[in-house]
Amino acid sequence: MTIAITGATGQLGHLVIEELLERTTPDQLIALARNTEKASDFAAQGIEVRTFDYDQPETLAPALKGVDRLLLISGNAIGQRIPQHTAVIEAAKTAGVPFLAYTSVLHADTAKSLAVAPEHVATEKLLAEAPFTVALLRNGWYTENVIDTAKQAAETGSLLTSAADGRQFAAPRKDYAAAAAIVLTAAEAPAATYELAGDTGFTQDEFAQTVSELSGKDIAVQHVSAEDHRAALAQAGLPDGVIDFLVSTDVAISDGELADPQPGTLSLLLGRPTTPLRDTLAPEFNA
Ligand SMILES: NC(=O)c1ccc[n+]([C@@H]2O[C@H](COP(=O)([O-])OP(=O)(O)OC[C@H]3O[C@@H](n4cnc5c(N)ncnc54)[C@H](OP(=O)(O)O)[C@@H]3O)[C@@H](O)[C@H]2O)c1
Repeated sequence: MTIAITGATGQLGHLVIEELLERTTPDQLIALARNTEKASDFAAQGIEVRTFDYDQPETLAPALKGVDRLLLISGNAIGQRIPQHTAVIEAAKTAGVPFLAYTSVLHADTAKSLAVAPEHVATEKLLAEAPFTVALLRNGWYTENVIDTAKQAAETGSLLTSAADGRQFAAPRKDYAAAAAIVLTAAEAPAATYELAGDTGFTQDEFAQTVSELSGKDIAVQHVSAEDHRAALAQAGLPDGVIDFLVSTDVAISDGELADPQPGTLSLLLGRPTTPLRDTLAPEFNA
């Protein structure tokens, strides 16, 4: 069985390949990379590396020759992902790939506030019409997303949020990567939608408390409306795109869009609890 991974040179891609190597052999893996120089570590481990650039659609189908299972890791060029993902899906059809797993986002089909959701919804629609078996890995927020916020809160002693008392059920990339590897190596390729998230959600107050314990600094949480949050970030000089992303994420948390609708799906797949917030943050504070 040959398993190929797009975005293999990215952070999630690297972890997926690490997890796959624990479950299969290098000769069964293909690392797909737009810049093959960045994939030299894979080649050194005996993994075939093929050029794969979403922005060069005509080159994609030949690169998928002989692939039995494909992991499409969503691209990171927000705003360009629909044509990019379309190109990959079309190539998978042309190459006759029988199974594709796609890293979508938690609640993709019902999310209203999450700015990143529409491109995932569009991709899921294309996949629903595809002739191959599809697994949707609807990943929740990466815990790593809050590392910078944690450091900033410890530095300034304050945390500004419009997430109210919403909980986010984050898990680190390595947990999502392990889940992807498990799905990709399943005896029977599953036609399924997995809502994947951490076991234990945290509110912004609980987050601040954890950061406070790890850093030894008091952190005052300032709860504000989305409007006031936006204004404060604008006054701090942040670019509009960053403001939109930060505020829409907080609103999504407040609306429950980063909470887990199927509690425990990720830990069930992993056969272990997901990694708690504290474990991801502790090394950042030498704690
Ligand atoms: N759930 C969350 O909290 C969350 C957070 C951030 C991102 N995401 C999503 O999850 C994905 C994986 O996360 P990550 O942290 O691994 O992101 P990442 O480190 O930025 O990796 C993205 C990968 O996509 C590749 N890529 C970008 N444009 C491409 C193109 N035109 N053709 C082929 N490959 C291309 C990159 O290649 P290069 O190595 O050449 O740059 C890289 O390998 C992201 O792309 C994004 O869609 C989710």
